[in-house]
Amino acid sequence: MESQKEGAALHAPVSVPAETFVGGLRALSEGVITKQAIYEYLVSYEIRAEDLERYKLWVPDRHTRNKIFRNEMIECMLICWPAGTVTPLHTHNGQLGWMSMIEGKLLVENYRKIDCNRPENQQVVGLDCLAGATRIEMNQLGTELCVPGGPLNTVDKTQTIHRIRNLTEWNRPAISLHVYSRPIDSCVVFDLEAQRCFRRDLKYDNE
Ligand SMILES: [Fe+2]
Repeated sequence: MESQKEGAALHAPVSVPAETFVGGLRALSEGVITKQAIYEYLVSYEIRAEDLERYKLWVPDRHTRNKIFRNEMIECMLICWPAGTVTPLHTHNGQLGWMSMIEGKLLVENYRKIDCNRPENQQVVGLDCLAGATRIEMNQLGTELCVPGGPLNTVDKTQTIHRIRNLTEWNRPAISLHVYSRPIDSCVVFDLEAQRCFRRDLKYDNE
């Protein structure tokens, strides 16, 4: 199911210089960070086009993660998705996350974990899980089509596992702006075909 039809813009953020945008995010990161507060900020303000250029990096056949801002509470990055790129199925560790489309479109496939054979590996401090299961049962929930001006896609404590695709047949690059709280440096990815999960480092391509 697609939650947003193309062309039906719900919001039109005000374009501001990158420094202003980051300043606003920093101020929010110093208070109580809620899903709603950051959502409202991101549908109200965007980085002006000329300032976004410096964060763009295109590499064939994979998406790039380009740092805009990070402190202890929050990180903001621009992700560039060539046509046909797809993330592994991954979890956000119960983070809050917001994705705002700048250009093109992306399909988010949401999943929920039912069970695995290493549940004790979730009993660890500071991480969602040590990973290492060899049997994983996962339910695919709905999909969300994300477009500029549409509702933001979010992750939260109840919807934390997904995969993001820029479909080959769309034949166009996509650019999205992501905010996460708190920042994380690794996440668990799932290979359902092989019935394996493992922890993968997350790095910026450009910072
Ligand atoms: Fe994600």
